[in-house]
Amino acid sequence: MSQTTGLLFVCLGNICRSPLAEGVFLHLAEQRAVRDRFLVDSCGTGRWHAGERPDPRALAVARRHGVELPSIARQVDPGADFARFDMLLAMDWSNRRNLIRLGAPDSRVRLVRSFDPTLDTANEESLDVPDPYYGGDEGFESVFQMLTRACNGLLDTLLAARAQG
Ligand code: 4NP
Repeated sequence: MSQTTGLLFVCLGNICRSPLAEGVFLHLAEQRAVRDRFLVDSCGTGRWHAGERPDPRALAVARRHGVELPSIARQVDPGADFARFDMLLAMDWSNRRNLIRLGAPDSRVRLVRSFDPTLDTANEESLDVPDPYYGGDEGFESVFQMLTRACNGLLDTLLAARAQG
C-alpha cells in the first residue's frame, strides 16, 4: 500500500459542496492526528468557476464551525486525476455519471454519502448531497452537517482498512 491515500472530492462547480467536503475531511483528519496519511483535493466537472475561492456562503458556514476551506476551484483533469487519486468521491449521482463518462474507473468513483453510517436508505433517504447553490444559508448548514457525518464515516472506513492492510 502506498504511504498516502489520495482522495478527490468532486461536484459540479467546485465552489460549494466539494470544497466543503475537502475542508471538513481535512479538519476531521487533523483532529484525529492522521492528516499526513491523506492526499486531499477537490474539483468540479464544470469549469465556470475555475480559479475562484469557494462561494461566500460555504466559507461562512465553514468558519462558523471552525473549519478552513483551502480550495481554489479547478476543473477535473481526467488524465492526471484518475491516475493520482485512489478514490473519487462524487457529491451526487450526476457527478458520478460525469466522472465515468470522462473515463474514471467505476470502482473508484464512490458517492460520499454512502459512507454515512446514519443514512437511512431504508427510508429512501437520498445518497445525493443536494446542490445548495441556488438556495439559502440553511441549505449550506444542512450540507455541512451531511458532509461531517459522511467524512467521519469515510475516515472510519479508511483507517480500519489501513489497520487491516
Ligand atoms: P457545487 O455547486 O457543484 O456544489 O459547487 C454549484 C456551483 C455553481 C454552479 C452549479 C453548482 N453553477 O452552475 O455555476
